[in-house]
Amino acid sequence: MKKLFMVILFLTVVMLFAACGSRVENSNASDRKAAISTQGSSTGSAQAAVPEKVQGKKILVAYFSRIGENYAVGNISKGNTHIVADMIAEATGADMFEIKTVKPYPESYKECTEVAKKELADNARPDLAAKVENMKDYDVIFLGYPIWWSDMPMAIYSFMESYDFNGKSIVPFCTSAGDVLTGKESSIPNYAKGAKVLQGLGIEGKRAQENPDSVSPQVKQWLEKLGFVQ
Ligand SMILES: Cc1cc2nc3c(=O)[nH]c(=O)nc-3n(C[C@H](O)[C@H](O)[C@H](O)COP(=O)(O)O)c2cc1C
Repeated sequence: MKKLFMVILFLTVVMLFAACGSRVENSNASDRKAAISTQGSSTGSAQAAVPEKVQGKKILVAYFSRIGENYAVGNISKGNTHIVADMIAEATGADMFEIKTVKPYPESYKECTEVAKKELADNARPDLAAKVENMKDYDVIFLGYPIWWSDMPMAIYSFMESYDFNGKSIVPFCTSAGDVLTGKESSIPNYAKGAKVLQGLGIEGKRAQENPDSVSPQVKQWLEKLGFVQ
């Protein structure tokens, strides 16, 4: 009888342990499952936070912009296009590069228009002061300029002809007397060989200079539409 009692007691203890063990194992499994699904969803949302266009891509904002006396804004210490370039770089986390000519343009607005008019007539390619040494690393180049004589400044042509743009996208943006592009942007791949051109943005320079808060939502909306920010 005592033996039978001992056997029943032993079996009860074994069953109890087995039941506890399986509960522990189950809870671990469900914890793991929960952990995996949490991890999955957080990874998912982290990926969703980075727009597809930007994932793993290196972006450069290259811009040409002039200080001094300018149209409708008086004497400025930061160019209108530069202001828009900063907004783009800040929103996208891009690197920045200023396109500068070896020979500076006159500070006087009128004199500058004359020099620019002649350069356009001559189809000039002014020498640039610096090169983007690691251009091969960039996938997307936001290219900014003021409208000069209904065209891009000739320095922009010098810039476009200085690199191989195969596999790269150019996103043009400009400032001028109105919220317009030059209308020449579709010809960019003729000079920036291999480039794919994305939808550009034209901003009134005076507004960028004097009321930048009215410009930044417009820039953000454009970048959202292109998929560069969310
Ligand atoms: C040489 C020159 C030519 C210009 N030609 C035009 C033009 O054809 N159309 C226009 O709307 N604005 C024209 N502008 C005005 C500039 O496009 C405008 O002021 C621009 O915002 C200047 O940008 P920045 O400060 O970045 O240089 C011209 C300005 C200069 C200096």
